[in-house]
Amino acid sequence: MTTPVRVAVTGAAGSIGYSLLFRIASGEMLGPDQPVILQLIEIPQAVSKVEGVVMELNDCAFDLLEDVVVTDDPKVGFDGANVGILVGGRPRGPGMVRADLIKANGPIFTSMGQAINEKAADDIRIVVVANPCNTNALITMANAPDVPDERFTALTRLDQNRARHQLAKKAGVAVSSVTNMGIWGNHSKTMYPDFFNAKIDGKLVPDVISDHEWLESEFIDTVQQRGKAIIDARGASSAASAANAAIEHVRDWFTATPEGDWVSMAIPSTGAYGVPEGIISSFPVRCDGNGNYEVVEGLEINDFAQGKINGTVEELQGEREAIADLLS
Ligand code: LMR
Repeated sequence: MTTPVRVAVTGAAGSIGYSLLFRIASGEMLGPDQPVILQLIEIPQAVSKVEGVVMELNDCAFDLLEDVVVTDDPKVGFDGANVGILVGGRPRGPGMVRADLIKANGPIFTSMGQAINEKAADDIRIVVVANPCNTNALITMANAPDVPDERFTALTRLDQNRARHQLAKKAGVAVSSVTNMGIWGNHSKTMYPDFFNAKIDGKLVPDVISDHEWLESEFIDTVQQRGKAIIDARGASSAASAANAAIEHVRDWFTATPEGDWVSMAIPSTGAYGVPEGIISSFPVRCDGNGNYEVVEGLEINDFAQGKINGTVEELQGEREAIADLLS
């Protein structure tokens, strides 16, 4: 009998949760042989909605789903959790920028961090999806001092996926041809999708896409502004693509990254590439298959890229200042 993995999900009643839970329960995140227990956390007003989702989960009769816990108490929800996906928080609506969410969502993550610190399993790994996700992950980490810092990550896989699609479309190739797509910095309109080091069919992108002006302007803008474009078009924040990215983030954290490639994760900076410590910033990383990752070393960062990285790092430092009172 394989021991089930306990996956805690906050904001389980929301749109992202609805796209996420069934795929976790079907084995898409942790594999076809890994039983799971879902521990669903919601605010009291949304618990009955989660109970409806649980009815549907049960009606799928997933072989891998051993149990589902529903609670409005983070200490119950994170009890023994091995993986935490933090989706709960106010989403960005039309006309809002991510900075508007900092004060609204920040305090939620102090209590998440405290519950994780007190209750989660020793091997807990966290990905924060709720925006501003980098800084919310920082607040969570600061409030869970007994958990190693490197276990706290934020989602930039959505940006990696968006960037791969844009490059594939421009080059007229399949998305699978686009590899080595590193995202740097914040999951926001300042993030830097590093096309210089990305590859198409093994060749550097600027050697395949000759329209360098497009790469330096429209490509970057499109990826940076994609969340807003979706909100403008749908009247609601991205949900299915965010859930998909969260699944891939966790799946790839526990999978050895294919030789020569990398994935993007926002992680606590340890000073690599001059990114200051004290922020959670996206880097290209490689995972070892056992839940560990390391920043890809030796990438060439030219002046253009450095300018973009500096800009997004400055934004993260500003966000950190805005919530400094939640870090201690
Ligand atoms: C996204 O990137 O689609 C989400 O993070 C929503 C947002 O606020 O942009």
